[in-house]
Amino acid sequence: MDARGLAHRGYPGRYPENTLTGFQAACELGFAYLELDVQLSKDGVPVVMHDFRVDRVTDGKGNVKDMTIAELKRLRIAGTEEIPTLEEALRLLQGRILVDVELKQCGDLYPGLEAAVLGVVHKLNMEDQVFFTSFDHYSMIRMRELHRGAEIGLINYGASPALIRLAKELNGRYVSVRHNYLTEPFIRLCEEEGIQLIAWTVDEESDMRRMAGYPSILVCTNELERWQSVAGA
Ligand code: G3P
Ligand code: CA
Repeated sequence: MDARGLAHRGYPGRYPENTLTGFQAACELGFAYLELDVQLSKDGVPVVMHDFRVDRVTDGKGNVKDMTIAELKRLRIAGTEEIPTLEEALRLLQGRILVDVELKQCGDLYPGLEAAVLGVVHKLNMEDQVFFTSFDHYSMIRMRELHRGAEIGLINYGASPALIRLAKELNGRYVSVRHNYLTEPFIRLCEEEGIQLIAWTVDEESDMRRMAGYPSILVCTNELERWQSVAGA
């Protein structure tokens, strides 16, 4: 079991990102955590996709928000795979791995995204296996308003003490920061304040070695086996 590795979008180093195949691979490697990205279809179904548009990873074109779930399901990733719904992804992961559900909320882009995501998690009784994160901190404020017990976290590029303050105000457990912004004082501050720090996205061996030196950090990576060899997991 790799207790500190967080499989970013599954295992994009080897499999198409945000697919059931990649998620299965992360579980089989024994990762404790997995991150996936969620957008909302035109008809309100949370789907697993990083980009606002389908163009980069599928054979289609257009915005996720302008396509129904039926239209999205007709697209193919790497020729064979469907875009997973959040429900399909969580069903695969249930009982196997802790899931960082990143809401790709962006201002008013996806009205109702937070409630729709919570609805899926409640339906599957996976509140204890899932936490929610976003670059859009208003999205996490809404999540807290919707569910007092939700585990939430704030994503940011840079490190800032303001992140810790807001996380604590929201009773949030996680702060997720681009790894090269992390300094010893910020790491120690998170430890002192009881915040679980996530470093993203750590793919180079030298960066992995640095992060491995801070046992309190969860290390988000696209290169799962490289991390395991560095961490000795
Ligand atoms: O959790 C944050 C990490 O996923 C970095 O953001 O752009 O890869 O979704 P992104
Ligand atoms: Ca993400």
